[in-house]
Amino acid sequence: MKSTIQVHDKHFEVFIEQSVLEKRIAALASSINQDYTGKKPLFLAILNGSFMFAAELMKSITVSCEITFLRVSSYQATTSTGKVHQILGLSESIENRDIIIIEDIIDTGLTMIEIKKQLLAQNPSSLTIATLFQKPEALKQPIDIEYIGFEIENKFVLGYGLDYDGLGRNLADLYVLSE
Ligand code: XMP
Ligand code: MG
Repeated sequence: MKSTIQVHDKHFEVFIEQSVLEKRIAALASSINQDYTGKKPLFLAILNGSFMFAAELMKSITVSCEITFLRVSSYQATTSTGKVHQILGLSESIENRDIIIIEDIIDTGLTMIEIKKQLLAQNPSSLTIATLFQKPEALKQPIDIEYIGFEIENKFVLGYGLDYDGLGRNLADLYVLSE
């Protein structure tokens, strides 16, 4: 039987070990290095979830680059439009820059579609997405994602930056909810 950990009221088991995560992240960085040779991209890491992925990825980026950090606040609108996402913390101009968004996980994709729309309105030269995890079955609208670490099944995961109600971001492996 796999050993489990308890976070709040739920039990989780190791799903992807740190060494596997790190190896894949280095491969993503190497693709980015190839694709951005001669360019000077600006990475936008989405907090809080992407902090660990962003740190690991950046250690293997060899092209000249900048990184900055954003937050996306989401709240339920009073109208029927559903969730409204607002980008907070972007003080740099992204006009005519090559932008790479760093995200922890793309689930329904709705957050990323909204972020992309708002950033494209500021006229970057290019805009690509690097996400550590994606749940293909959960995607609600098609979205181009250039760099995907792992396609995972549609189950709740935590660790490696991802939380369950505030806890678990510090875990070095990725965990999945135990059945
Ligand atoms: P959407 O559905 O808009 O959501 O793509 C993306 C955001 O939802 C959070 N999320 C998760 N967080 N384990 C987590 O800890 C998960 O399995 C999970 N799925 C989605 C996450 O904040 C992401 O940015
Ligand atoms: Mg997130």
